Amino acid sequence: MSGGHVAIVGATGAVGHDLLHVLAARDFPVRSLRLLASPRSAGQRLPFRGEQVLVEALDEGSFRGVDVAFFSAGGDISRRFVPIAVDAGAAVVDNSSAFRLQADVPLVVPEVNAIAVELHRGILANPNCSTILLVLTLAPLQRVAGLRTVVVATYQAASGAGQQAVEELRAGTAAALAGEELPARVLPHRLAFNLFPHIDVFEADGYTKEESKLLLETRKILGLPELPVDATCVRVPVERCHSEAVTVQLQRPLSPQQARELFAASPGLELVDDPAHRRYPMPLPMSGRDAVAVGRVRAARAFDTGLSYWLCGDQLRKGAALNAVQIAELL
Ligand SMILES: NC(=O)c1ccc[n+]([C@@H]2O[C@H](COP(=O)([O-])OP(=O)(O)OC[C@H]3O[C@@H](n4cnc5c(N)ncnc54)[C@H](OP(=O)(O)O)[C@@H]3O)[C@@H](O)[C@H]2O)c1
Repeated sequence: MSGGHVAIVGATGAVGHDLLHVLAARDFPVRSLRLLASPRSAGQRLPFRGEQVLVEALDEGSFRGVDVAFFSAGGDISRRFVPIAVDAGAAVVDNSSAFRLQADVPLVVPEVNAIAVELHRGILANPNCSTILLVLTLAPLQRVAGLRTVVVATYQAASGAGQQAVEELRAGTAAALAGEELPARVLPHRLAFNLFPHIDVFEADGYTKEESKLLLETRKILGLPELPVDATCVRVPVERCHSEAVTVQLQRPLSPQQARELFAASPGLELVDDPAHRRYPMPLPMSGRDAVAVGRVRAARAFDTGLSYWLCGDQLRKGAALNAVQIAELL
């Protein structure tokens, strides 16, 4: 067997599940695989390339001999264990927000800023899922027409809050259909037949931390430290795939048709834009897909030189697992 010794921290979670799928589907060179989770999951087995791999409880000794470690178990676990993994000699691709804005940590979307990988000193950060989907569309616009302002509203799926949130949506939907009420445990409110503009914690200025991630991470990835990005992030009763309504003000004119051609030619994007035949991006057809779909491209009414469009992408795939594996492939 050739390849590297790979570890996944958070292997039993929503992102961990997709990491296993993407590593196998892309034939990532895995010589050995260590699956790590909380003590609750130790002893479980998860399938990988036809074998049943044992899940172990994460501890300080978990990274001996590991070349690449994918972390997707939340910020607290990353803050504690990523430095341990790096000290043990592993390159870490971290899905949490713990290190994303640190100056010496590259924040990478391979189609946009692959070059940043070269600056890594052990840790590479995977951006926020909504940010990854957004910058795939903003980068070509910036290159061709220059960005002045970005306004975005997100429609984020339950799985963005983890596997337990998906189970809460399913159980809450079944309960509601049976005329019963299931109190929310994982999410801030019942999501079944509902939505709420509340993802992550509220900050002093009234925006949420998720909305600030869209601002600060987009600036870092695009290398535009002054770019205004005004975001409103909404949780919707969809199982997987985030959608975003985007309006951009550009520095130079770009017609909707030019933008369509640009999007169609940009890596990672798929143009789905034929409203007359009810063709536009939607979560169901994009679930489990690698590409991010973009459509409803039109001249913005709010700005003289601007565009509005709609995008939709699988946030567990391109928004997390796929992007992380692409970063590891660059290494
Ligand atoms: N979901 C998304 O769309 C998405 C997208 C981008 C980034 N992310 C980020 O990825 C990370 C994981 O998200 P997720 O959605 O996959 O969450 P999740 O479904 O809740 O999974 C969490 C994982 O972390 C493990 N874990 C929890 N406590 C642990 C502990 N004390 N020690 C070791 N492992 C522990 C869990 O193991 P057990 O099963 O044993 O509890 C599980 O494997 C988060 O940082 C999240 O912000 C998520």
